[in-house]
Amino acid sequence: MGAENDPTNTIDRALSDLRENVPPRFRAAATEQALRDENAKILGKKGELTAILKLLGQAPPAGRKAIGEKVNALKQELEGAFDGALAALRKKEREAELSAPPFDLTLPGREPVPPGHKHPISIVREEVVAVFRQLGFAVFDGPEIEHEANNFTRLGFPPDHPATDMQDSFWTEGGHLLRTHTSNIQIRAMMSLKPPMAFIAPGTVYRRDDDATHSPMFHQIEAFLVDRKVTLAHLKGVLAEFAERMYGPGTPVRLRPAYFPFVEPGAEVDIGCAFCKQPDGTRAGCSLCKHTGFMEILGCGMIHPVVFEQCGIDPEEWSGFALGMGLERIAMLRYGIPNIKLMFENDPRFLAQF
Ligand code: DAH
Repeated sequence: MGAENDPTNTIDRALSDLRENVPPRFRAAATEQALRDENAKILGKKGELTAILKLLGQAPPAGRKAIGEKVNALKQELEGAFDGALAALRKKEREAELSAPPFDLTLPGREPVPPGHKHPISIVREEVVAVFRQLGFAVFDGPEIEHEANNFTRLGFPPDHPATDMQDSFWTEGGHLLRTHTSNIQIRAMMSLKPPMAFIAPGTVYRRDDDATHSPMFHQIEAFLVDRKVTLAHLKGVLAEFAERMYGPGTPVRLRPAYFPFVEPGAEVDIGCAFCKQPDGTRAGCSLCKHTGFMEILGCGMIHPVVFEQCGIDPEEWSGFALGMGLERIAMLRYGIPNIKLMFENDPRFLAQF
């Protein structure tokens, strides 16, 4: 067999052709897909290098091992060239991306999303907070898991008061419970700050109650003011101002004596019914005010001397008032919502009305 007919030479020539031509072909590919297509033409099942491998069977057995090694070496070389070309392509793409005009995050979406609605509780809370802020009260915040000392004891609840019962509160561990009212904030503020002070404290509270007008979780707002020579007249003035700003000028306010362990005297506050108000300002009576012309909106009173003493404040020098209201109640009365559950279901058909 003459040298020119020896398949070994043909294979050698084919291999060095590939070694020379393939890397520039890889480098010329403009996209990753083009590069992969090019790669398949060489290293794929029907590729050029694969075709050369098939010629191996025709080479003299003695030379096959050497050719095999050459083919493998070239294969590795070409794979390296492929990887290099791929890395170069990606780098180029990334650079193009980085130097392109920046993505405009402020462009409006293509699908208009219908705007949401504020929850009636949020609307009412923001209004109440705004009214008290206008009157000079600042916001004070506190935890929802509270120690019984701040939720009950320092507020003058006797140890056997029904509110402290297992049936009425959610107890956790070590004398802690989910606070049953926001009055704990009075204690926290008075124990950490020196008077004078005027705060409002919106928050979530919890009780073992569940019916058409009670929910185990609900919202309250507490407001309290401590200064020298504060009287019931100051409390009444703030209540009248609050009623006017929330429910309109001339809204009548009345205080009915009531018992809360942390105030003396204590009162429940009614305002003129918002639903049966006549053009002349009188109330005709309706089902929402149980035909009384008045709606109860909150509890209040003069801070009890015992509470001051518990917080290290001298009741001879300082006096103050406190009041607390349920936001669900305020919202139900404001909008004529018949069932408290509606405010916790978050049905969009309900929320869309506000
Ligand atoms: N904490 C009372 C409750 O949840 C509401 C209340 C009544 C708060 C009288 C007060 C107050 O600050 O003076 O029923």
